[in-house]
Order: sequence, then C-alpha cells, then structure tokens
Amino acid sequence: MSETEIDLRAAVNAISDVIQNRPRPLRVFDQIYMKAGDMVLQSEMVAHWADGKRLAFIGDGDSISVCVAYLQHRGILNYGPSKVTVFDFDERICSAITRFADKERLEKLSALRYNCFDAFPGPNNFDCFYTNPPWGASNDGESVKVFAQRGMEATGYSGTGLIVLADDPELEWPKRVLGNVQSFALESGFMVEEMMPRLHSYHLDDAPQLRSCNLLIRALPGNKPRGASTVITDSSRLERFYGRNSMPRVRYVREKTWLDYGKAHEDEYFLELMDDAMK
Ligand SMILES: C[S@@+](CC[C@H](N)C(=O)[O-])C[C@H]1O[C@@H](n2cnc3c(N)ncnc32)[C@H](O)[C@@H]1O
Repeated sequence: MSETEIDLRAAVNAISDVIQNRPRPLRVFDQIYMKAGDMVLQSEMVAHWADGKRLAFIGDGDSISVCVAYLQHRGILNYGPSKVTVFDFDERICSAITRFADKERLEKLSALRYNCFDAFPGPNNFDCFYTNPPWGASNDGESVKVFAQRGMEATGYSGTGLIVLADDPELEWPKRVLGNVQSFALESGFMVEEMMPRLHSYHLDDAPQLRSCNLLIRALPGNKPRGASTVITDSSRLERFYGRNSMPRVRYVREKTWLDYGKAHEDEYFLELMDDAMK
C-alpha cells in the first residue's frame, strides 16, 4: 500500500479521533501542535520508515505515536512499527495516550513519564527513535541535541532516528540549529541519511509560516554507546532550553484531574437560561 492508495477519508477521520484525545498544548514548554493534514502524511511516512521495528518517541505532544499505531490497527495502513513507546514529561500526554491505547486496544502502544534531563531509564534496544523537540531557537539547537541524545541512547547508539526541526529559508537560526544538530549526529557516530525540507506547519500564532523538516539519521556500522546514560546538569546545555532566559525548573507536568479532552470543560462556559432573559 503506498501513500496514494490510502483511504484518505478513513485516514483523516482516524487522525481526527487522535486529535480529539490530545490535551491542550502548553506553549511555555514549546508544545505546539502539528496541523492535521501534515499529521496524516507524517504518520504514513513514519509507519513506513519504522515498519516492523521497535520505535521510541522522545516527547510526543503531536501524538504521531498514536496515529501510527491506530492507522495500522484500523487496517488503514498495512505496515507500521512492532512496538511504540512514548517518553514524555507531561503526565497529561502520557495518560491521554494510555487511555486511548486501552480504549482502542492498541497493545503495542505505551507511554512513560520521563524528563529528558534525567538519565534514560531504558530499555535501550529500540531499533529507531522519533523526536519533535523544542527547536532550540535561543540556544543554537542544544534542546534538539538533548532530545536526540536520549533517542540515540534508546537505540543503544545502533539504530536510526527521525528528528523534526525548524526549517525556514528566510531565517538564520534554523540553519544554525540544523548545522549544529548534524555535527552532533556525526560526533555521536550517526550519519545523516536524508533531509526532507519544509514539510509540516503548526498551530503557532506568532509564526504561522514556520515549517519543520525531517532529518533522518543512521548509526554508523559498529557504533558503540557513549557510556552509561547520565542526568544532564551542565548549565550550558540547559539554559534557554524553552527559549527563555531562565533555566528549566519543572521536572514533570502532572495531571490534576481526569479530563475528557474531546468535550468542553465546565469552567469554559455558563448557561444563560431562557427564564433569566424574561425577568
Ligand atoms: C517540546 S514539544 C515540541 C513541539 C511538538 N510539535 C509537540 O507539541 O509535541 C514535544 C514534546 O516534548 C515534551 N517535553 C518538553 N520538555 C520535555 C522534557 N524536559 N522531557 C521530556 N519531554 C519533554 C512535551 O511535553 C511535548 O510533548
């Protein structure tokens, strides 16, 4: 089944189910969601790229992990990864994924609460990783490198990776970030296999034109892990992580109450009764 042979209506409706399930994004942590049409194409591409493989997501507010597992489960795609695990510091995101997986019986999909500043908990036997990290506009891509490092650790430095990062021909910082991330990949024993330019757009009010690309990397033959995974305390790797002046202080975003994300919350509206208007 190729991209052109997919039942587009079924695919878009399945992605719509996933979107209904997502918590509202927290801009302060760079949670900025990908637009629906791009999610369909990205999910198809990821399912193909990771077909039959164990796939780790380092952060996934977009829910591409869920799309990939769900599209295959529903028979809309007849390929996809054999296992999908999401590592994200936002408990709302992890719980929403877990609830969706339970409801739809997506047995290969799971989510774990994890902050990428902490040592990677394992397992380290994933075949590939996917990350759409904070894009590092204010720290020359250091944020991207931290997420990519955890992805490399998830594969024991011997797999493939798909890194989503900003791509805009008019701006300087995305080019600097892209160059730095490519250098980091090489230093880590990975080669750059492919760069797919300007693919995705986002619900981003202050820069609606900003696109992102896919950077595909692959471990060089015989590449070895760079020692045990350790906590990141080096301030030069942490400052301006989310584009602000301060150091990150939040370990986890915790969920206060169970929310049905597809429905309006009671604190969003009140009811003006017909009787009130007649008084
Ligand atoms: C930073 S956002 C990037 C934009 C992306 N389009 C999105 O909204 O998913 C990606 C994911 O990283 C997660 N994240 C942010 N900081 C993290 C951290 N320190 N450790 C682990 N996950 C983190 C967010 O919760 C989000 O799900």
